[in-house]
Amino acid sequence: MSDIAGPAAAAFSSLDAAQIQFLQSLPKAELHAHLNGSIPISVLQELAAERASSSSSSSGSSSSESISDELVLSGIQKLLKGVTLDKIDDFFTLFPAIYALTSTPDALRRATRAVLRTFLDVSDPSLNPNPYPQCSYLELRTTPRQNTHMDREIYLRCVLEEVETYPPSRAGLIVSIDRKMGEETVKEILHLAMKLKKEGRRVVGLDLCGDPTAGDMGVLEPYFLEAKKAGLGVTLHIAETTQNTPEETLKLLSYNPDRLGHATFLNEETISIVLQKKMCIEICLSSNLLCKTVPTLESHHIHQYLKAGHPIAISSDDILPFRTSLLAEYALLLAKPPYGLGLTEDQVRTVAEMSLKARFGSSE
Ligand code: IMP
Ligand code: ZN
Repeated sequence: MSDIAGPAAAAFSSLDAAQIQFLQSLPKAELHAHLNGSIPISVLQELAAERASSSSSSSGSSSSESISDELVLSGIQKLLKGVTLDKIDDFFTLFPAIYALTSTPDALRRATRAVLRTFLDVSDPSLNPNPYPQCSYLELRTTPRQNTHMDREIYLRCVLEEVETYPPSRAGLIVSIDRKMGEETVKEILHLAMKLKKEGRRVVGLDLCGDPTAGDMGVLEPYFLEAKKAGLGVTLHIAETTQNTPEETLKLLSYNPDRLGHATFLNEETISIVLQKKMCIEICLSSNLLCKTVPTLESHHIHQYLKAGHPIAISSDDILPFRTSLLAEYALLLAKPPYGLGLTEDQVRTVAEMSLKARFGSSE
């Protein structure tokens, strides 16, 4: 666990060996993990080194994703040092360097393979006496991009090929739509997701993500309704910042999503809809603390859902910049205050069971 830092690492370090064994052996689902935010730094370093050696002039690509080697290297340095975010907007500036490194089918496949391994494989059984992966089941999400090396369909097929090396009981893919995208692109991505699902590929859901202050949420409703009709699960990043208005939150809830990402700033009206419709909340504790959308664990909105026995799924969001792991996020539940919430093992087990119940994918 040496690659974790911050609040989750502190919680993890406060646990004894029996508690760690308990968390490791607990069956649990990771339902909110963004592919490009979860790539091991060692893989990005490899990709950066290859890019530097194969190009004296910026990989010869005129792709909109091609940025200078200096910017890529400084992005990696930032991630290596550990990023300090003053506000959530700073978070989105980390991605151009990562995207420059995952802009070819080969690099994307390698990155996806490494992310799947991180979550689903036992890292090194000879070093790890407890042979448990981070999670029993992973629903990985990603936003299909197009550039000079691939179109969105190729992007998704590359990721799916890797996801499908695991059985359906272990991994599924959620296709993300970025809030900044225009309607034409949204339509294209929705139709790709539906087409791939129809072909029997492992697409299980549709997500809305990206800069929470961008985009017009008034126009997306028909697309998410169509996704639901096609049998895709729907999850929406919602009410992530104070700038997200109650009107926008109500609009997004009218899409009738199955799950919600973050749902940090709900008012009485929207909380009551969420509770009544039993929409599962994907809770990302470190992400919220480090992006400073929630000041402390004590004030985190998880408490209201725990009290109500409402479905939640503890998730990691982006383990690369947040330097966490799913196990360490569960440590935040079990660790005693001030390191964690101090839940009992039975309570943590109940929470883990909730994550498995909220999967979009099948458990065949
Ligand atoms: P990708 O979809 O695999 O490229 O993963 C990275 C992308 O996920 C980022 O560029 C954001 O659009 C999105 N993302 C990651 N974390 C968050 C979050 O906490 N809120 C909203 N969007 C996010
Ligand atoms: Zn997210």
